[in-house]
Amino acid sequence: MSILITGGAGYIGSHCCVSFLESGLDVVVFDNFSNSNPESLKRVEQITGRSLKIEQGDIRDQSTLETVMKRHACEGVIHFAGLKAVGESSQDPLAYYDNNVIGTHRLLSAMDATGVRKLIFSSSATVYGEPKSLPLTEEHSLNPVNPYGRTKLFVEDMLRDLAASNSEWRVGILRYFNPVGAHSSGLIGEDPLGVPNNLMPFIAQVATGRRERLNVFGDDYPTRDGTGVRDYIHVVDLVEGHLQAYEKLAKLPSSSNSFSVNLGTGNGYSVLEMVKAFERGSNQPVPYEVVERRSGDVAECYADTQKAEELLAWTADRNLGDMCSDTWHWVRKNPLGYAAESDSND
Ligand code: NAD
Ligand code: UFG
Repeated sequence: MSILITGGAGYIGSHCCVSFLESGLDVVVFDNFSNSNPESLKRVEQITGRSLKIEQGDIRDQSTLETVMKRHACEGVIHFAGLKAVGESSQDPLAYYDNNVIGTHRLLSAMDATGVRKLIFSSSATVYGEPKSLPLTEEHSLNPVNPYGRTKLFVEDMLRDLAASNSEWRVGILRYFNPVGAHSSGLIGEDPLGVPNNLMPFIAQVATGRRERLNVFGDDYPTRDGTGVRDYIHVVDLVEGHLQAYEKLAKLPSSSNSFSVNLGTGNGYSVLEMVKAFERGSNQPVPYEVVERRSGDVAECYADTQKAEELLAWTADRNLGDMCSDTWHWVRKNPLGYAAESDSND
């Protein structure tokens, strides 16, 4: 029996492959490589010394999914595949509803048709919208403020409806806070196309000299130093949470066959604290300039982690220093990401 990891070649998916392979599970990756490079999967095999089964395909293609799940006797799915850029989702909402909502609908239909009814879904803290109270508990109201966030909420609702309709389903919804960092080998990490949207990869590219300076989006928020505060979580901790969540699915009773859990550390760090921590971790300067606020940003966002501790027996172990030094190790070894390697193989 194998586990199907959709989007397994991407940033979080590739780290999840390592964690699942290392725990002895067999993994099939299903990815259309629209935002990833197959080189990441070669690196996963290098790190683990185990081989992956790789199927190139699109989650919107239900019949191919069914064939793949039957071919590899899949017992469950970890579902990462989708689009994730908040700004782009406002410019091209149809692409987001197509990939994220319709894609997940096709995946669930394929799972139902083949009797594979165990799923872990990548949701996001963005489903909470503007925090009304902090830390954010899972009971906080759900009110996303952009199309990307709404696609995550639509899928969450679809999953809750599905689980309620048939007690054979086992569904875990994981709401990530801000995943950062890289595997300690420096072989896999985040490899954004073009100009990074997110803070950590941008800081890393400034530290390597690829970009001149960081734009800090506002220093007049009601926070310790005026810059935005987020709950950054090491990607390896995050994927270990997936392993715990997947194992939990098998133990859920049919009367309570789904759960939604935050995956964060519970600690918030400001943009300037991240800059200072990265300077310490890399021993490089990170020049910055304060510019206008970015529209749609909230002042502070961090998780209440109690439910994850109680339900999954999971907490994040790695600290901010680990997040910065592992990111630095990855960008130093791979200043151009995976592209350089795949070009040289062409
Ligand atoms: P990523 O873009 O690196 O990985 C996504 C993978 O899915 C890529 O390999 C891409 O090629 C693939 N993919 C996209 N559309 C596909 C489709 N239609 N069919 C098959 N494959 C497809 O993103 P990531 O950072 O690894 O995020 C993984 C998941 O976690 C996403 O669902 C994202 O929304 C969610 N998430 C990410 C963050 C974050 O900050 N990275 C935060 C919260 C939630
Ligand atoms: N920031 C800057 N400069 C940059 C980039 C970001 O100052 O160049 C600031 C932002 O204003 C914010 C903080 O750094 O205060 C973090 O911004 P990110 O873009 O890294 O992360 P967000 O919290 O905005 O969003 C991320 C993902 C979303 C996900 C969310 C979950 O991009 O997809 O975390 O909490 F939903």
